[in-house]
Amino acid sequence: MGLCRNDGWTSVVKELIENAIDARASKVKISINGGGKSSIIVEDDGIGMSEEDLKLAVLPHTTSKIETFDDIFNLTTFGFRGEAIASIAAVSKMKIESSDTDDGTGHGIEVIGGIVGESFPTAKTKGTRVIVMDLFFNVPARRKFLSSVAVESRMVTEIIEKFILSSNVSIEYIRDGEGIYNVAKSSTLEDRIKIIFGDQNLIKVEEQMGGMKIYGYVSAPDVGRQNRLNEVTFVNGRYVKSPFLLKAIETGYAQHLKKGEFPTAIIFIEIPPQVVDVNVHPQKLEVKFSDQSRVFGSIASVVKHALASPSVFQIPVERAPYFEDKGSSLKAYEKPDKMIREKFSQNFDFDFDRIPERSGQKVEREKLSQTHPLGILNGRYLISYGQNALYITDIHAAHERILFDKIKTQSILSQKLMNPVKVDLTQVQKDIFEDHKAEISSFGFEYKDGNLFSVPSIKGVDDWAALFVSTIENFRISFAKDPKEEFFADVACKMAVKTGEKISDVEINQLLSDLDKLEVWSCPHGRPLVYSIEFDRLDRYFGRD
Ligand SMILES: Nc1ncnc2c1ncn2[C@@H]1O[C@H](COP(=O)(O)OP(=O)(O)O)[C@@H](O)[C@H]1O
Ligand SMILES: [Mg+2]
Repeated sequence: MGLCRNDGWTSVVKELIENAIDARASKVKISINGGGKSSIIVEDDGIGMSEEDLKLAVLPHTTSKIETFDDIFNLTTFGFRGEAIASIAAVSKMKIESSDTDDGTGHGIEVIGGIVGESFPTAKTKGTRVIVMDLFFNVPARRKFLSSVAVESRMVTEIIEKFILSSNVSIEYIRDGEGIYNVAKSSTLEDRIKIIFGDQNLIKVEEQMGGMKIYGYVSAPDVGRQNRLNEVTFVNGRYVKSPFLLKAIETGYAQHLKKGEFPTAIIFIEIPPQVVDVNVHPQKLEVKFSDQSRVFGSIASVVKHALASPSVFQIPVERAPYFEDKGSSLKAYEKPDKMIREKFSQNFDFDFDRIPERSGQKVEREKLSQTHPLGILNGRYLISYGQNALYITDIHAAHERILFDKIKTQSILSQKLMNPVKVDLTQVQKDIFEDHKAEISSFGFEYKDGNLFSVPSIKGVDDWAALFVSTIENFRISFAKDPKEEFFADVACKMAVKTGEKISDVEINQLLSDLDKLEVWSCPHGRPLVYSIEFDRLDRYFGRD
């Protein structure tokens, strides 16, 4: 095992569940109390231990490695293969009760800070119960490293979720007396994914390629998420954290997902153990393959095949025509928006003769408010030209940035909804909401028992549930971003003009002059706002210089 310096209950829970599964349990029950700072209990109905086994289980195999608690503290990792129980027992108050018979009798043992007591007989059904109390009670410096109760228990939930996905046993999880998960043994992988990530359209993946078996489920190509939290990979049954594997999955989606969008994907890889190394990290969460590019390519292709299968409803991906200095893309201009054709009719007979003479000087960012709007391309891009260049403005992104800068300085009022909106949060989302209730409420949300009663008083939002969920997700510990900024970015995105939405010429002029005042020419999500084609680039292209 490996408890890392900063690992607390998560590693303990992980090791104990692994032991239960190793003992061929069909049901594992995990209870944590006081957030786990007071106790972690893992019970199984596996093969159990005899009295002798039990005494051996709590003994370190090589006592010399850990002589004092100082040593434990100084090792980045402690405990070695076959010593999880002993290592945990050295830094907690542990009690194990186990039975390897069907007669209702068994044995118990207590270890307090590594000091092993006498074994004692106890009534016990077949299987094992391990109780870990007061983790790091005797190593105050380590105890200090435990994160807050809220964070630790959320991490425990997340590790339990990985076991729910990767095992075929029944898993029950109770936290401070409240039942969080209770997954039946008979639950399929698809059921398990839905329990954890919510109900959604999933596409089955299953293929042999590149010497591997790759299987699991991925989300339909048209539904993207804003983060990678729903992408989970397992290698030979073990959960691994691997940006490399996630990238491979995303590559399989190719153009189906917009930039900054991620799928839901639960992918299992079975690969001969000799070509994979899952031991590069003490927690064994990372993975390295001897032929990285083959693994990458195979996963990407398998995902791509699954998405392309006829059972999947495909939304044709329409590439927005765009102006580019290479290739003749003027064709893109042949079918401007009808609405705009009327609005800008006088400008519409666009002819390149009207483009001012090349000024000769280096192109500076000219004032967009002084450019002449020509039309809207593909419902999305405002085309205008000025002294030096043709400008293509992403209307939505520009509007988003302008709104973002404006609203982030304001306080948000709350409005009651006429009809409460039902929102099914996942367990982790519920936890995050509870932990950050005050802040999330300050954005105007009022949520209770699965329903949203009040929402921020902003216009243009049609999916309150989605905004609420993404607001919660912004508080994930793994996010380095400022949840408040992210919230305003989300709101700005929801309020901004959508593709194809009508926009008056007054609004266009306003947009252009607002853009001139901006410091940053990128939207809150980092996408660019304006693309310019300088006239001298055109001249160069047409061989006129
Ligand atoms: N839940 C359990 N059921 C049955 N036996 C167990 C259980 N947990 C631990 N053991 C026994 O205790 C031994 C030591 O466990 P551990 O310290 O986790 O090392 P490892 O799992 O690597 O052998 C195991 O090899 C197993 O024999
Ligand atoms: Mg073990």
